[in-house]
Amino acid sequence: MRRAFFAANWKMFKTSQEAEVFLNALLANPLPDCDLVLCPPLLSIPALSGPLAQETRVGLGAQNLHEAEEGAYTGEVAPRMLDEFGVKYVIIGHSERRAYFNDTDDRVNLKVKTALKWGFTPILCCGENLEEREIGVTLEKVAMQLKKGLEGLSAEEIDRIVVAYEPIWAIGTGRNASAADAVEVIDGIRKVLNVVSGVNAGETVRVLYGGSVKPENAAEYMAHRTIDGALIGGASLKPESFKAIAENGLKARLG
Ligand code: PGA
Repeated sequence: MRRAFFAANWKMFKTSQEAEVFLNALLANPLPDCDLVLCPPLLSIPALSGPLAQETRVGLGAQNLHEAEEGAYTGEVAPRMLDEFGVKYVIIGHSERRAYFNDTDDRVNLKVKTALKWGFTPILCCGENLEEREIGVTLEKVAMQLKKGLEGLSAEEIDRIVVAYEPIWAIGTGRNASAADAVEVIDGIRKVLNVVSGVNAGETVRVLYGGSVKPENAAEYMAHRTIDGALIGGASLKPESFKAIAENGLKARLG
C-alpha cells in the first residue's frame, strides 16, 4: 500500500519563532506512522532545519522554488538555497502561485524539472475553478495541467512526484469537495499518470486531496483507497489539528 502523506502548507503564516513553537508541540507526542511534511514560509525554514535534520518522522518542505540555478531574479529563491537548509519537498503549481505569481503550466514544468534535478520531491498541485466545475470540464483541466506539468519527464522521474488535487473553489473557503467528487478526479489523475509515464505510475504515485481539509472530514477522504493523504492549509496551522487530520485519516485508511 502507498504510504499515507500529509503536508502542511502554512502559506504566509508563522514567523520562525512561531514555527519553532509549532514543531516543539508536534514532536512532544507520538505521531502517526505516515509521512508528515511541514512547508513553512521561506524565512521560517532555517528555524526548522536544525531540529528536522535529526527527525525521521517529519520532513521539511518549501512552498516554491525558482526554476533557474541562480541569477538576476530579484526576490526569488534558488534550489541550492533550499538544499542548504535540508529541504526535501517543494510545493509546485499551487493555485495561489498560478493566480498571483505567473506560475504558468510551462513554468510549473520547469520548476518540477529543477526540483527533481536537486533531489526534492515535488508536490505538484492541480485543480479546477468553480466555473470549470460547473460547466463540467474538471477532468480535462486537471489532465491538461498534469500533462503539461510532467512533460518531458521519464517514468522514473514521474514516480518520484506527489500530486495534490486541489479544487480552487474549495481552498480556504470551508467548502470542501465531497469525497465522491475527489475520488472521481483522483481516479482520473491516476489514468493520466499511467498514460504520461507509459507504465503504471497511476498505481505507485501518491495523490492527495486538498481544500478545506479538517480533522472532522479527513476520514471521509481517506476511507477511499485512491486518496493517499492531504495538503492542508488553514487547519495545519495548529499542531493538534494537523496531527488529528493525519490520525483520523490514517485510521480510516487502515480500518
Ligand atoms: P485550505 O488550503 O486547507 O486552507 O483550504 C489548502 C491549500 O491551499 O493547500
